[in-house]
Amino acid sequence: MTSASESGFVVFDRVQKSYDGETLVVKDLNLSIGKGEFLTMLGPSGSGKTTCLMMLAGFETATHGDILLDGKPINNIPPHKRGIGMVFQNYALFPHMTVAENLAFPLEVRKMGKDEREAKVKRALDMVQMGDFGGRRPAQLSGGQQQRIALARALVFEPELVLMDEPLGALDKQLREHMQFEITKLAHDLGITTVYVTHDQTEALTMSDRVAVFDDGRIQQLAPPDELYEAPKNSFVAQFIGENNTLEGVVESINNGRALVRLDGGEVIDATPVNVSKAGERTKVSIRPERVEYNKERLHADAHTLKAEVLEFVYMGDIFRTRLRVAGNEDFVIKTRNAPDQRRLKPGEQIEIGWLPDDCRALDA
Ligand SMILES: Nc1ncnc2c1ncn2[C@@H]1O[C@H](COP(=O)(O)OP(=O)(O)OP(=O)(O)O)[C@@H](O)[C@H]1O
Ligand SMILES: [Mg+2]
Repeated sequence: MTSASESGFVVFDRVQKSYDGETLVVKDLNLSIGKGEFLTMLGPSGSGKTTCLMMLAGFETATHGDILLDGKPINNIPPHKRGIGMVFQNYALFPHMTVAENLAFPLEVRKMGKDEREAKVKRALDMVQMGDFGGRRPAQLSGGQQQRIALARALVFEPELVLMDEPLGALDKQLREHMQFEITKLAHDLGITTVYVTHDQTEALTMSDRVAVFDDGRIQQLAPPDELYEAPKNSFVAQFIGENNTLEGVVESINNGRALVRLDGGEVIDATPVNVSKAGERTKVSIRPERVEYNKERLHADAHTLKAEVLEFVYMGDIFRTRLRVAGNEDFVIKTRNAPDQRRLKPGEQIEIGWLPDDCRALDA
């Protein structure tokens, strides 16, 4: 999607937002979203995600900077002419209309003929598995059903741009996974550009072309899912995305793209310097649980290893999740595949662990 993203169908250019004239809830947002791209905003509560969607929808104005849609400033396009489908966190359906009328409404506004309208409404209702509910009013539906109707209404007119704020939050796991599949399929088939907000990391990683991780009104990292998970740029992103082990220490040396880090307990480990640049700096090193090795034969002969004590072993079916005490950290987790050659570790056992320096990233303290 990188080539598409350069064309910038949606562009946030140095956008800032303050509601009270004092504190900025969006601090300096630069983001270019390609036509047909599926971009997800992920971040803690209050980090500014909904605010960004509201500005893009034209319901809030940016305090500074510009938002462009297809090259034109959004403020110059009236809301009903923007061709944006939306599902907001509390986006109410029209209570006096039936489900079918709610869905037909955006099509009527676009002056679509009756037959085509009915066909599209039926398809949208089938997509959200609500085909039998066309005659009901919103008040006669459960929360999850209302949410599905709101989703269908946002997509029924095949908009060029769709904004979705936690559109699947009220659904059970199975329905949620089904809808994740339907949304991404429809978005890709129709070439819809999607800006999606979720708290669910798995949802973000599986659905998106790129994910923007927000914290405190800024994008901390913007990257495709695999890059975000495997190469987090800072400690916040490493902690926020997926399970992660952190060890703290001081950089002892950096040579040929390798950092030696002396942990606070005195042990020395190899790491890849990511945002440390010189000896003496404090760092948090980050290692994913599935990249830690305890089978000595599989470790590099000159790899630095750490002593560890097994505290807990959890059998999870496909994987084993083992918690260790490592360099004073009692929440150090390793995950291993349930394979014939993997041993089940026992609480109390003393082992040695290690990893490839590439998998251990020295980040900001
Ligand atoms: N209308 C408003 N007036 C004043 N402050 C607001 C308003 N809407 C949001 N805020 C504040 O702006 C900040 C960002 O809010 P926003 O709703 O964008 O967060 P969010 O990332 O969507 O959070 P969540 O994940 O909880 O939905 C928060 O501190 C919030 O309290
Ligand atoms: Mg929100």
